Amino acid sequence: MTLEEKVGQLVQRAGGRQRALNSRIDDTELERVRAGGVGSYLHVAGAEPLAKLQKVAVEESRLGIPLLFAMDVVHGYRTIFPVPLAMAATWAPEAQERAARVAADEATSAGLHWTFAPMVDIARDPRWGRIVEGAGEDPYLGSRMAVAQVAGYQGGNTLRPGALMATTKHFGAYGAAIGGRDYNTADISERTLQEVYLPPFYAAARAGSGSFMVAFNDIAGVPTTSNRDLVRGLLRERWGWQGLMVSDWGSIAELLNHGVAADRAAAAVLALDASVDMDMVGDVFAVDLKDAIAKDPARLKLLDEAVLRILRVKEQLGLFDKPMQYHDVERESRELLAPDHRDAARAIARQSLVLLKNDNKLLPLNPAKLKSVAVIGALAGDGRNELGSWKAQGRPEEVVTVLQGITAALPKSVKVTSAPGADPRNNDLTGIPAAVKLAKAADVTLLMIGEDFDLSGEARSRSTLELPPSQLELARAILATGRPVVVLLANGRPLALQELADKAPAILETWMLGVEAGNAVVDVVFGQYSPAGRLPAAFPRVSASVPFYYAGNPTGRPADPDLAKDTVRYHDLPITPLFAFGHGLSYSEFRYSDLAQSVPAVGPGERVDISITVENTGGVASDEVVQLYVRDPVATISRPVMELRGFKRLELGAGQRKRVTFSLTPEQLAFWSPRGQWQVEAGRIDFWIGASSADLRANGSFEISKSHLGTAPATALPTRVTVSNN
Ligand code: BGC
Repeated sequence: MTLEEKVGQLVQRAGGRQRALNSRIDDTELERVRAGGVGSYLHVAGAEPLAKLQKVAVEESRLGIPLLFAMDVVHGYRTIFPVPLAMAATWAPEAQERAARVAADEATSAGLHWTFAPMVDIARDPRWGRIVEGAGEDPYLGSRMAVAQVAGYQGGNTLRPGALMATTKHFGAYGAAIGGRDYNTADISERTLQEVYLPPFYAAARAGSGSFMVAFNDIAGVPTTSNRDLVRGLLRERWGWQGLMVSDWGSIAELLNHGVAADRAAAAVLALDASVDMDMVGDVFAVDLKDAIAKDPARLKLLDEAVLRILRVKEQLGLFDKPMQYHDVERESRELLAPDHRDAARAIARQSLVLLKNDNKLLPLNPAKLKSVAVIGALAGDGRNELGSWKAQGRPEEVVTVLQGITAALPKSVKVTSAPGADPRNNDLTGIPAAVKLAKAADVTLLMIGEDFDLSGEARSRSTLELPPSQLELARAILATGRPVVVLLANGRPLALQELADKAPAILETWMLGVEAGNAVVDVVFGQYSPAGRLPAAFPRVSASVPFYYAGNPTGRPADPDLAKDTVRYHDLPITPLFAFGHGLSYSEFRYSDLAQSVPAVGPGERVDISITVENTGGVASDEVVQLYVRDPVATISRPVMELRGFKRLELGAGQRKRVTFSLTPEQLAFWSPRGQWQVEAGRIDFWIGASSADLRANGSFEISKSHLGTAPATALPTRVTVSNN
């Protein structure tokens, strides 16, 4: 390969903007491809257009190296699933894997080799708009969801021909942006980085994620795009990951703005040295790398390594043998929005719903007892909104909206009325009186309020977690009627809902649910399916209390409800969140009993099995998410008051009972020691099993008999869970 051809492999160009895919592939672009100046395109799609483009690369360039086609297929390609935060609320990695599998089937049929997902950034500050793209606040839940997505996209832990390559992003602490402001600095301790932000990356690397993406931001002054210690040192050398590292959009060029490179050539060298292989859109490698290498030929070795990693994934995906494998137009038309994909979207959407509040069992509604229903809220009829951030090729007109779903589900004898009332996108309150009139005349009102899709996602951080003003006004007016009201909440982040939670008898969290939104809401509202989703991030009472997460340290003055005591709390706020991490109600009730453990103490290489029986005593078939939390009460460093280390979403028929066993190893209790090692310390470990972090039903403890070093981030390691029928 000539130097130009090598550099060309490192270049990723945009084939279009998100909404105008392929629009930039003009004659000039084709010339670049012929000259071997492009390794990959993003924001492209379609079996046929991409076949043409691939043919140019393979048949008309000197070396015939195929291109890699990439897109942000984040929660579906054409069949759009719930937004990732909602899918995390299923607490069902198998559902998440299925969604990723469907997305991969559709995307690969449409010419794509590569998706920029999963996003595994832990988010403890819900003001950060990108919380919607990830699995929330917890590294253990986040690790399980990360692994499920890699498995779903790639169909296994090695890349194979025909697979969709996953990208685990945004390495290393993008979600820790100060103040929740997107792109902002993360200034966190080494321990927090290792224990909280990095574990899902480790889990995804182990699961074989073919590529990774570096974050835009810096950690304590070092932008990840130029972070040699983190990318080359930790990820590649210590963790042994050898995949393709792509920059984020222009993030190599942005090293100038960060103030760590004086010019673009310096930026190119820093990124290459950190082992960033491909330059997304910035054109820094394309324009400035050649001269930098001419100045110092030792850099050629770094370039060769990067080229090799890119060529290797192309080979693993089968592109050298069968470059046209991803371009079967007939398959594309069969896959996109296939009926079983819609079925999967409905099943997963209803698993994502979280019942936050349900006073006097207002839900489920019995259609046989209803004469009229009012559906109020601009979002109820808004298909675009249900597609959320990163809609790929999702189309609003293919969405079953909540209004459509409800209208179709109810018998003709029930009168359905609807009015937008007020729209979250503006402050026009003039529609409220008409909505109130309908609510007064109806047996029950379904009030859909919240954030619209454009309030969460990239560059969509908010300074407040309150409902948009018009939504709160609408809710106040409807609730003031005194008529039964079920709130259907739409949002891409935890919100501060104190007033709403005080006034509304029932609140169902519907997030943004994708193409089957309306049907999934119908299934739950009318009782075909009992909700069992759980919050993957706590809802605070007021905005000003964030960051607020359950796994904090006890401190010298642990929080106490008694205001007479001086403890770590706000004086003017209860110490608990409004809705805790792991919270979610169902239509049934569950009894936890017969806690048992296999051994009182564990040593290196051993495990303790913790078992409990869960019985559905509420008379309604329902899932229940059983959660295991641990705490190291005395260690050389202060450990969090509780941490998730296992969970299982159980399906339980009315009256049915199942026994769940969690198997823990000492390595899963390791912490990042002041010496920079994973340390397992001898001593007692306390544990709890419950239905949420605030609803603990049983507890016990075991001993770790011997101190020793662990080998991996503790929260990245999976707890083995077995279920039996007795
Ligand atoms: C985002 C990435 C995304 C990329 C390509 C960037 O702005 O941060 O998450 O994959 O654009 O669309």
